[in-house]
Amino acid sequence: MERVIGIDLGTTNSCVSVLEGDTPTVIPNRGGYKTTPSIVAVTEAGKRLVGHIAKRQAITNAENTVYAAKRLIGRKWDSPHVKSALMTSSYGIVEGPHNDVRIKLRDRSYSVPEISSMVLQEMKIIAEDYLGEPVEKAVITVPAYFNDNQRQATKDAGTIAGLDVIRIINEPTAASLAYGYGKDFDRTVAVYDLGGGTFDISILEIASQGVFKVISTTGDTFLGGEDFDARIIDWLVSTFQEEHGVDLRQDRMALQRLRDAAEKAKCELSGVSETEVNLPFIISTGHNEALHLQRSLTRSTLESLTQDLIERTIDICRQALEDARLDVNDIEDVILVGGMTRMPAIQGAVGRFFQREPNKGVHPDEVVALGAGIQGAALVEDRQEMILLDVTPHALGIMTFGSRFEELIPQNTTVPTSRAKIFTTSRDNQTAVKILVMQGDSQNAEENEFLGEFVMTGLRRAPKGHVEIEVTFEINTDGIVAVKAKDLETGQAQSIEVTASSGLTDEEIKNMVKDAEDYMVERRTDEEFEAAKQQAETLVDSIESLFPDVERVVGSADFGRDAIAKARVIVDQTRTAIDHKHTRKVKDHLEQLERTERMFKGVVSRAQ
Ligand SMILES: Nc1ncnc2c1ncn2[C@@H]1O[C@H](COP(=O)(O)OP(=O)(O)OP(=O)(O)O)[C@@H](O)[C@H]1O
Ligand SMILES: [Mg+2]
Repeated sequence: MERVIGIDLGTTNSCVSVLEGDTPTVIPNRGGYKTTPSIVAVTEAGKRLVGHIAKRQAITNAENTVYAAKRLIGRKWDSPHVKSALMTSSYGIVEGPHNDVRIKLRDRSYSVPEISSMVLQEMKIIAEDYLGEPVEKAVITVPAYFNDNQRQATKDAGTIAGLDVIRIINEPTAASLAYGYGKDFDRTVAVYDLGGGTFDISILEIASQGVFKVISTTGDTFLGGEDFDARIIDWLVSTFQEEHGVDLRQDRMALQRLRDAAEKAKCELSGVSETEVNLPFIISTGHNEALHLQRSLTRSTLESLTQDLIERTIDICRQALEDARLDVNDIEDVILVGGMTRMPAIQGAVGRFFQREPNKGVHPDEVVALGAGIQGAALVEDRQEMILLDVTPHALGIMTFGSRFEELIPQNTTVPTSRAKIFTTSRDNQTAVKILVMQGDSQNAEENEFLGEFVMTGLRRAPKGHVEIEVTFEINTDGIVAVKAKDLETGQAQSIEVTASSGLTDEEIKNMVKDAEDYMVERRTDEEFEAAKQQAETLVDSIESLFPDVERVVGSADFGRDAIAKARVIVDQTRTAIDHKHTRKVKDHLEQLERTERMFKGVVSRAQ
């Protein structure tokens, strides 16, 4: 049976899991950590770094280190969220060719799916190293409130990473799968997921025999730990400005250090009631003088700085209950997901709103990935005993006269779903019809997310009103939208061109896949070299340490001098091969090095 991995591609951290036998298991990375920072960097030498090693060099290479790319995925250049990211990010965000967003690292710009693909590729490698076999199939999670553009872009990221994304599932739904896995109960639950970048709340009914039915879902894809950190940064920056008249935001390195310190202080305040932010030499004022930042932050200050953010999540919870037509008393368990739910003020607010102590039985950082792995296994094994019914988080519709939004599929409809609508030509011999497809919850089309222009071309020529085209709008299980059209009279499928979408073209994706493959080859070659080098160096060190003894024992005999000379040659040749990074030569020398070491050890031990 082919293995499927489950990947939680987080704003801050990513996590990968697999089902081992019947046990959902998180796969640790090489450092032994169960989550990997979703951070990508390019070094001065042009080397790509992902995860912990990218995080460790973020301060000294702030301009070329990307974090929280998920906040930008599938967004349009002119969206308010991108504007806000532009103001606060320490890396370069530039406009792409499709009204999309590109990220500049060193001398290249990358699309956001490409950046995310680097994180996914890293997760794929972590899984392959652990399983000892290549992995292709994956289930990737997305915030439940992601729209079609964001989902599509995430799927593209998977494709670029060389993954076959067999399903996209919603993060809170994945969490509920892991929570309910292997248990046999009927229960209505709320999943409150506040991560680094996004907030989701889903209300689900879990029924015995493994039925997971989402009743309502809502959220905010731009509300998470990053915003909490930003409040602390604002507070530090403004008090520093008052005191020293210096704006720390002007300095990228200072900003990156502030970002780290703010997050650290926030996390610490989940455990203690006061902490110290200490950043010596935060900025230089010229003339060899530097300023230091030192300030103590209390839990209650943090709570007052972020109270409105917490309240926003609670308002969204209220909405989710209303959409589900349920009362708080109907909720039998509240599951906390995401690193931010470790904050006591959040646990308190959630507990007060739902009038019950939230469940602490699931691991907030791992449960989403575990659920994705469970779903992955269920899909390839075609397990009948697990049924997952999710919903679309946004209404789907089209723009009609006067920028009105005509809703075709309402929010919280169970997916997959479809809806057909008939369009009629309004002019004689009209050969094309254009439909503007949007997603959102406003009556005013312009306030909703524009998915694309679907143009039906090559219609048969006829008097106006004589050509009727049936257009079917579909949302699949991944929450991704497709539009199909057919001529009602002839029954012929009508071709549709999608234009004005912010996604990548097939050609672009193809090139990116190629780049990712090249990277893999390079990386595996590097690893092969490192392994050979390590082995060779150990042998060389051992041989060298034996030289004096060997010389003493057999150095006066001809065969001994000959053996020593040969050993010196092979040691030198190995060193040269290592210096030239010549993997094959290093490997070729290994056998002779081993032989030499064995012989030397034999000579020495016999003499003793
Ligand atoms: N002990 C803690 N107290 C407060 N916040 C914490 C704590 N531990 C982690 N966090 C915060 O949780 C956030 C990361 O959570 P998580 O790893 O669940 O996010 P993510 O899955 O990467 O993001 P998202 O789900 O939004 O895409 C960060 O903002 C981090 O600072
Ligand atoms: Mg998350």
